[in-house]
Amino acid sequence: MEIIVKETVEEMSKVAARVVAHTLNAKPNAVLGLATGSTPLGLYQELVRMHKEENLDFSQVTTFNLDEYVGLTQKHPQSYHYFMHENLFKHINIPKQNIYIPSGTTDNYAAFCNWYEQRIRECGGVDLQILGIGSDGHIAFNEPTSSLGSRTRIKTLARQTIEDNARFFDTREQVPIYAITMGVGTILEAHKIILLANGEKKADAVAAAIEGPVTSMITASALQLHKDTMFIVDRPAAGKLTMLDYYEWIQAKMPNAP
Ligand code: F6R
Repeated sequence: MEIIVKETVEEMSKVAARVVAHTLNAKPNAVLGLATGSTPLGLYQELVRMHKEENLDFSQVTTFNLDEYVGLTQKHPQSYHYFMHENLFKHINIPKQNIYIPSGTTDNYAAFCNWYEQRIRECGGVDLQILGIGSDGHIAFNEPTSSLGSRTRIKTLARQTIEDNARFFDTREQVPIYAITMGVGTILEAHKIILLANGEKKADAVAAAIEGPVTSMITASALQLHKDTMFIVDRPAAGKLTMLDYYEWIQAKMPNAP
């Protein structure tokens, strides 16, 4: 794992955007796995800027989103369909047919989940997966005790996640209880993964994910089993890392490594 600590959210987002741009420059038809929530907003803004000012090209890119709330239509302002359209897709040149987001309104969730997994495989797998992390250590909506081999499925949200996400809704009661989410096993098949985290509220989860045991209680800890994962976090989110000096030492010494 590579741990990169940046002073601000802006710097964190720029480093992540450079990783995405590097992936697209090396493979213009790359498959990206995308997250929603507050954390990747700066990354998406930077990608939009790079598209407009530096011709970063999305014309051959395919995307798969991690998750969607069950019961929210695509037009619902809190749906992840709406979020992705507003914050990224409508500003870049990605073809509509290359965008995949789990459906929150299908009448057959089991069949949809199988189809979603199959589409990822048919597209050659995810080249670069972007992740945030929940304050309970979840990745996508893989809440504590989710199997580390889990696949795309319906998941009941944890109380903590409902509390955390209530800020986007008028009332706590409006937060959906179920979500459709890629599994931990699905995520671990991505060729490269970057997890972003900012703010003090994420410090415990980040420390548990990086330095704690691999456990389904903190599904982000499963990333310790992945061969190419990068954590890019701001200083407050890195606040509980006991080996922080070492991670910064590695970054400082990396340019001269043999
Ligand atoms: C969203 C997702 C979630 C979020 C996590 C953090 O697609 O997969 O795991 O990344 O809940 O959310 P924010 O960024 O809002 O703190």
